[in-house]
Amino acid sequence: MEPTFSPGGRVSGATLARLLGAWRQGGRRGSADLAGAIRVLVLDGRLTVGTRLPAERELAEALGASRTLVTTAMDRLRDDGVVASRRGAGSWIARPVAADRPSREQPVSASDVLDLSCASPPALPELATALDTARRRMPAEFAQPGYLAQGLLELRERIAERYTARGLPTHADQVLITNGAQHAFALALRMLVGPGDRVLMENPSYPNAIDAVRASYARPVAVAMTDEGWDLDGLEVVLRQAAPRLAFLMPDFHNPTGGYLDAAGRERLGAALRRTRTPVFVDETLAELALEPGVGGAPPLAAFAEDLVISAGSASKLYWGGLRLGWVRASADLVRRMVAVRPVLDLGSPVLEQVVLSELFAVLPGVVECRQREFRRLRDVLIAELRARCPGWEIPTPVGGLALWCRLDGPVSTRLAVTAEGLGVHVAPGSRFAVTGGLEHYVRLPFTLAEEQLVEAARRLAVAASSVGGPGLLAEQVPLAELPVT
Ligand SMILES: Cc1ncc(COP(=O)(O)O)c(C=O)c1O
Repeated sequence: MEPTFSPGGRVSGATLARLLGAWRQGGRRGSADLAGAIRVLVLDGRLTVGTRLPAERELAEALGASRTLVTTAMDRLRDDGVVASRRGAGSWIARPVAADRPSREQPVSASDVLDLSCASPPALPELATALDTARRRMPAEFAQPGYLAQGLLELRERIAERYTARGLPTHADQVLITNGAQHAFALALRMLVGPGDRVLMENPSYPNAIDAVRASYARPVAVAMTDEGWDLDGLEVVLRQAAPRLAFLMPDFHNPTGGYLDAAGRERLGAALRRTRTPVFVDETLAELALEPGVGGAPPLAAFAEDLVISAGSASKLYWGGLRLGWVRASADLVRRMVAVRPVLDLGSPVLEQVVLSELFAVLPGVVECRQREFRRLRDVLIAELRARCPGWEIPTPVGGLALWCRLDGPVSTRLAVTAEGLGVHVAPGSRFAVTGGLEHYVRLPFTLAEEQLVEAARRLAVAASSVGGPGLLAEQVPLAELPVT
């Protein structure tokens, strides 16, 4: 997970208050809650070791809390060694977090930790076969310098064929190989967005994309997802009135909700993009992972707003994140401009991995079918376990993607994440996906672990949930709108 603050950087009181989001919700507002919420920021990488914290008075003011409450929370963190302070030098994050553990549970060893913060599966067996074939093919590549700024032609051709098959005629000149979809977005931001520019995003959105926008000193403008999916009226209004410099959208199994924009929705969204001439980065990382029969199959959004769209894909979800490969599909002109910008960041993607990925594209249909079948099974296992153990949660069945987006029975996601960490389950609270704050009612739970790990994770999460929520919580909580659109 990309850190929000570099080691040694300082976080202001106002920024920390924003990151802490809804720590006060859920009825309890003590120093333990504040300390717990700061721990989560350290746990999920938003506050890195070395980050300097605001003065306690500044934080108290920004939070609208008493100085005593903040000081007591800091004392707790200092006692644990999470925060260190020195007179004249202030306070800083001193070490990664080890969270409190409910006393009834056995201690959890490091090897027993279940990581549900990352929605990426292990590699497929086909990867080893592709690697063997690629190794045999490498001598032909060794005769070249190995700097492929746009990427291996054969791989670009295979990716172009896949777009063409999905209903978007594409030539290899329109494809650029990147070091993953996140790298592709960084390139697009560098090329298209400057400080102060607005970037339209769905709310919730993919945390690393939100961080990338903020790291470019651009301003995310959120349009809330609804229970039914995209708010196309809201998107049209924001495109017209906020005039964003770029949009970042995930119509192909949105992360984290799993939503899929149908062909009619794409037609309407494409028309709005064309009217406002808004460039859009379409993150198609999860596009091949339809989990219900009859879902998927609409042409890529680029088919409806062609020259305005940068589509990005990834090898991470179908094949393996460790390949660190993704791609961009755009107009040949935009691709040329991205190739020209690229040397500031890097000089190309590794050749061996590109040959491996090209081999894997040759077996794509079988891989897609196998991954879809397996993830559908794991999705259903996790849903069944959670519905049985956490009856107060709303757990919709996502039609695609790799995660559940669960609505909790109170705005307790941050506290749930802290408690779950103590039980050896690492989860990202809903607030991590929030573009504008809030979303403490939600938690994202990927189903990319093995079945027995998912069952055990659900068991531990239910224990955590019973210690942070439970009956009576809803009556006590402070209502707060989920800050849908800004
Ligand atoms: C929506 C989305 N975009 C981008 C990424 C990162 O992809 P890559 O590994 O290709 O950089 C992920 C991975 O979790 C993702 O879910």
